[in-house]
Amino acid sequence: MTIDLSNPNSDFSDISFTKEDMAVIAMPSFGGRAPAIAIERLGRIAGNGARCTLVAVYGNRAYEDTLVEMEDAAKKCGFQVVAAIAAVAQHSIISKYASGRPDSSDEKQLAQFAKQIAGKKDCAVSIPGNRPYKKPGGAGLVPKPSKDCVKCGACAKSCPVSAIDPDNFSANAKKCISCMRCMKNCPHNARKVNGTMVSIAAMAIKKACSTSKESELFL
Ligand SMILES: Cc1cc2nc3c(=O)[nH]c(=O)nc-3n(C[C@H](O)[C@H](O)[C@H](O)COP(=O)(O)O)c2cc1C
Repeated sequence: MTIDLSNPNSDFSDISFTKEDMAVIAMPSFGGRAPAIAIERLGRIAGNGARCTLVAVYGNRAYEDTLVEMEDAAKKCGFQVVAAIAAVAQHSIISKYASGRPDSSDEKQLAQFAKQIAGKKDCAVSIPGNRPYKKPGGAGLVPKPSKDCVKCGACAKSCPVSAIDPDNFSANAKKCISCMRCMKNCPHNARKVNGTMVSIAAMAIKKACSTSKESELFL
């Protein structure tokens, strides 16, 4: 069973696990933190003692406090955290970083991690990160419809926080979490972000992204 924490139309409070279940809870790292909306939605699920593996997906810069924030949220709603993974994927704003990842070697490594987790007998796990967590910082990039927009509505449907007006397809800057999903899902490549701001963001993380990082397993 897959539960999509990015679905704004789901209530989540009717979802409950049992002690016999094993869950994989995955979130992207945004600014070294878990997305607040995903943490809030996870909090409505009843873990009831189910074992879980946490997966923080990050774009080769850093995942910082993402996993500890997920650990705290998962425990709070009743999951037993048995393992955690920091997994590298192509950066969703600056696609030249970690481009093409996860690749076949990442996939092999993740399959190996799954075997190690399945063979784990105890529940103790030490997860890297700081408490209190680092301050959340928005990317401040709000995609806008361009002249190529045909008003098909794919962007509004795919927005995890219902930030896109279904009539004029502009995004509410206060609600937008800059996840870039509307851009990715636009069949006409008609949503754009400010190119100068993307270039500045790319420069700011250039050094941190200069070496290719390996995914990590914490048992
Ligand atoms: C708003 C935002 C903030 C991000 N912050 C980070 C970050 O702090 N460190 C990092 O390595 N990647 C960061 N990324 C890249 C994503 O973590 C990565 O591309 C994502 O996990 C891929 O999954 P997705 O395509 O489902 O978003 C960020 C991406 C976005 C959209």
